[in-house]
Amino acid sequence: MELSSIIRKFIMALSGLFLIIFLITHLVINSLTLASSKDLFNEAAHFMATNPIIYAMQYVLALGFIIHIGMGIKLTIQNKRARSQEYVYNRMSKNTDLSSRSMIVSGGLVIVFLALHLRDYFYQMKFVGLPEGTTDYDLVVNLFTNPYYTAVYVIAFIVLGVHLNHGFKSAFQSMGANHKKYNPLIKIVSTAYSIVIALGFSTIAIFHFINQSSIL
Ligand code: HEM
Repeated sequence: MELSSIIRKFIMALSGLFLIIFLITHLVINSLTLASSKDLFNEAAHFMATNPIIYAMQYVLALGFIIHIGMGIKLTIQNKRARSQEYVYNRMSKNTDLSSRSMIVSGGLVIVFLALHLRDYFYQMKFVGLPEGTTDYDLVVNLFTNPYYTAVYVIAFIVLGVHLNHGFKSAFQSMGANHKKYNPLIKIVSTAYSIVIALGFSTIAIFHFINQSSIL
């Protein structure tokens, strides 16, 4: 493999690991909406919006996403080119190709979700402002009154889980942690993490949907 491609994979892994940490923090904060008191989440949201260090981290986060997406597209194009030359000689590349192709598809779907999600929350909170008498908590839960909307979110969380499961493992490989002894552990942690993220975010969406509808 070329040096530039190894560096690209390393940066991809590093930005991916950063996003992995962001997601777990985001999940913990959002799970406060499951508590019976609205105040807990509103206070956490207020702290996140006003703390200067967290404010600055938003730019790092945006950069993390941009680098990760940009490198992902670049690596896919690079792999495609390499494959058209190697394919005739090396049928083994078919397998790795399938998983990397599924990464660009699941990654693409996560980008579509992110655009929707940022419009709903980030844009609404930062640029439009909340309607009179409503809090951050109300904005979060009100969106889940719609069953189709809730379903789109839950499907996105499952796709995100699939993306993370492969991404987590391959991030460690790209950073050189490819060892017979540790690979099974990395695989277990990767699967556990992806399940916690997909199930955790889905629970929040479904909980608020059930809570506000009359189906139970
Ligand atoms: C039930 C699920 C989720 C809920 C209720 C939720 C809620 C929110 C809220 C309220 C904000 C605005 C925070 C603020 O600016 O003060 C936000 C921002 C954001 N969310 Fe989510 N989110 C969920 C899942 C996700 C997932 C799965 C991802 C990533 C794939 C994600 C990525 C982001 C990003 C990048 C931002 C903007 C950065 C920030 O303001 O912290 N969210 N989300």
